[in-house]
Amino acid sequence: MPDPAHPAEPAASGLIAAQTRGAVGLAQLNRPDARNALSPDLMEELGAVLERWDEDPDIGCVVIAGGDDWFAAGADIKAMASRSFQETLTTSSVHFWPRLARVRTPIVAAVSGYALGGGCELALACDMIVASENAEFGQPEILLGIIPGGGGTQRLSRLVGPSRAKDLIFTGRMVGAAEALEIGLVDEVVAPEEVYAAARRWAEQFVNGPAVALAAAKKVIDGGLDVDLRTGLDLEAEVFAALFATDDRRIGMDSFVAKGPGKAEFTGR
Ligand code: CAA
Repeated sequence: MPDPAHPAEPAASGLIAAQTRGAVGLAQLNRPDARNALSPDLMEELGAVLERWDEDPDIGCVVIAGGDDWFAAGADIKAMASRSFQETLTTSSVHFWPRLARVRTPIVAAVSGYALGGGCELALACDMIVASENAEFGQPEILLGIIPGGGGTQRLSRLVGPSRAKDLIFTGRMVGAAEALEIGLVDEVVAPEEVYAAARRWAEQFVNGPAVALAAAKKVIDGGLDVDLRTGLDLEAEVFAALFATDDRRIGMDSFVAKGPGKAEFTGR
């Protein structure tokens, strides 16, 4: 899926192929022999790549992709099979999900094929999801005698409502791209060969935007979902005022006054 003209950056173990196209960072899961199952090493590497790009002022948006036939088949069941209760409490995946939620840069998921269990949760933790017509989403953990552990019970319920989330989580059934679009699980469905280009189109909309305001919008929307309306509105009011300290606020308003809407050239500061 990634453009071969832009070779991947060297990665610690090759489980993530990371490359940049202008201001877009592409992290492609690369564990095809296990259907991109999220092993501890893969999660560690993905977390490190995302944090590196989050610190890089030249990266304005990230796309996370998998392969053509599987985005990710979830947590590594073989690695989990012998884990005890105590080991599960301290496993690296416990640290990965909060790490992912702390990324300020907008993230677009480009999902082709299966996005199951932790793979579905990885997509749900992104800000937008572009799905291929062959995408299949699901939280099949119940079929293993467990429940989702990477945010699925919470993010899926918030996105599609508790009733639909219970349908998917209680049954473990898969949802195709058309149903995923209908229930609001994904933002766009495209032909399989279009999924990466479509995800990049979403990403390109954000890369020249006011980076601090975009990160603030992400923080306030996500943070507001965790609290009551009054607290969320207070959070918004504070962050709204804080943005008056940015260069981009001045650039945006001066540009509007001089040239009309939508012509500002932001600096990301
Ligand atoms: N963990 C470890 N290995 C996995 C895996 C997973 N989640 N999913 C697939 N694999 C491995 C298979 O064991 C197999 O390995 P071998 O070749 O060594 O036998 C290889 O990948 C290919 O798998 P299949 O032959 O099953 O491939 P398929 O194309 O016929 O089916 C699939 C693909 C539908 C994704 C199927 O493999 C599947 O159902 N996988 C499990 C999905 C799942 O239950 N995910 C939830 C995991 S729990 C979780 O994610 C917890 C959480 O909330 C964080």
